Parts: sequence; structure tokens; C-alpha cells
Amino acid sequence: MEKGQVDHSYRVYSILLGIIYNLGHSLILSFLFRSTRLAGETSRTTVRRYTGDSTPYSFPVTPLYFSTEWAAEPPFTPQDFSRQDEAVDTSFYSKPRLLYHIDEPAAASLTQYYRNNIKRGSDILDICSSWISHYPLEFPDTMGNICATGISANELQYNEQLTAGYKQADLNAKLQIPYPDNSFDVVTCVVSIDYLIDPIGALQEVHRVLRQGGKVMISQSNRYFPTKAIALWLRTNHQEHLDLINGFFKYSGDGFEPRTAFDITATLPDTNAHPDPVFVVEAIKA
Ligand SMILES: C[S@@+](CC[C@H](N)C(=O)[O-])C[C@H]1O[C@@H](n2cnc3c(N)ncnc32)[C@H](O)[C@@H]1O
Repeated sequence: MEKGQVDHSYRVYSILLGIIYNLGHSLILSFLFRSTRLAGETSRTTVRRYTGDSTPYSFPVTPLYFSTEWAAEPPFTPQDFSRQDEAVDTSFYSKPRLLYHIDEPAAASLTQYYRNNIKRGSDILDICSSWISHYPLEFPDTMGNICATGISANELQYNEQLTAGYKQADLNAKLQIPYPDNSFDVVTCVVSIDYLIDPIGALQEVHRVLRQGGKVMISQSNRYFPTKAIALWLRTNHQEHLDLINGFFKYSGDGFEPRTAFDITATLPDTNAHPDPVFVVEAIKA
């Protein structure tokens, strides 16, 4: 370089370095952002798959009948509501289970049933809830408030179907649904009534939080944690489970009329397939 000439090369190098640095930075950021977005999309995709909206399943709804004539006074004993594992329930649920407790056709049949049987604009509470409430994906847009209560905040915090939050509550430790009187049009409870040691008292609580004319939908299948289910549930079959729930309603004060039951088990094109059965008992707050 001749004397008096200005050396611009360091400027060119620093500009190039700046470009490389900024490019690298934004590539790293966009990768991180994409990973986060994909994680969210993955969970939504899983939920979408379990709604039955684009599956070859059919969703028949068959009315069932209660077959037990319940006496005027409850025939149950304290032993009926005992469990193999009597430790506090919060310890059993201390590790979150972010999974489906029923198979895909069963979850899908519930979703379809809810779509066809919950009125637009309803305020809904899912009790004994977890990370999933099985509601149709459009519910946040078509319903009022959607809330949940369950024993595990670690599971409830991932429930993307709630529009008005959740409240953690151990109903076996303190029998109080943590919402005010007359707050909801619909209460749902999926594969969980068998874990409550006072299901009659729990239904009285459901009655309290429901508005007049509101509906409770209790569903069950053939799955349960045997150490945590009440003894009465373990020694009874599907039909008897329906009758038991009907009895729990009756002894909760006869404030629920009418009470109806349905088999909503999905059917599959492969007739050799046997999806989990799903039964719903519904009752209206009189
Ligand atoms: C088999 S999981 C079903 C969860 C959810 N309903 C579903 O369909 O995926 C059983 C649920 O029962 C509820 N549960 C069990 N014991 C409970 C208790 N003592 N108090 C309140 N909820 C309880 C918990 O919220 C737990 O997630």
C-alpha cells in the first residue's frame, strides 16, 4: 500500500463478520422458536387425532336401562368405599400422567358425544380432570367458560381446552368443588367417579355448582387404577356401574331428574377390533 492510501479492508472484514454474526444469531433464534412452536403443534396434533373428526370410526349412541331398584336408604357400607391404597391421593398423582386413559376410538366417541349433546354457549366444568378434557376443538370458540378441577396441577396446567382456568382440589381430602353455587350449565367427569370415596357427596357438590336445568355427564370405560378405585367398583360389572351411578344420584338427594344412560362405544371398520367401551350416565338438575 502506498503512503497516504487509506486501508478499507478492515472495514470490509468487520462488516462481513457482523453479517455472519447476525445471520448466525437469527438462525439460532429461528431454530429455537421453531422448536417451541413444533412442540405446541405436536400436542395439538395429538389431541386432534383423538377427536374422531377425520377417522373411519362410527359413533352409535344406544340407550341403556338401569336395572337395580334402589331401596329408600343407601345399602352401602364403609367397606364398599375403601381402597387397597388408602394413602393420600396427592402422592399417587405426584408424577403427572400426560397420556390418554382410554384408547383412541373411546376418546373420539366422547368428543363426538359432547359435540352433539352440549348446547352452544354453555359454561362447562370438567371434574376429576387432567391435561385433556376430550372436548371438541371448536369448544373454546363456541362455548362460554370452560374450567376444570382435578387433583394434579401438574397435569391440569397442560389442559389447552380450558378457557377460564383450573383449580386443583383433592375431593377425597376435602369434599368441596372449588367453584361457587350455580356456576355451570354442564359438568363432565371422565373415567374417574370410581376414585371418589364419597361419590354421593361429590354429586351433591355437582348439584350445587350446576344451574337449574344444567346437565352432568359421567362417563366410564373398562380401565381404572385398581389400587385407587373403591371396592364397590372393583367387584361390579359395566351394567352394575351404571346402576351404581344411578344409585349415587338417587341418594344425593333426588335433585337430579331425569337420569339416562347410553352406550357410546365407537365401532370400527375392522369388525375384529374391540375398542374400549364407553358408557355415559347423564342427569339434569331438577
Ligand atoms: C384416570 S384419570 C382421568 C383423568 C381425565 N378425566 C381423563 O379423562 O383423562 C383419574 C383422575 O381422577 C382424578 N382424581 C383421582 N383422585 C382424586 C381426588 N382425590 N380428588 C380429585 N380428583 C381425583 C384426578 O384428577 C385424575 O386425573
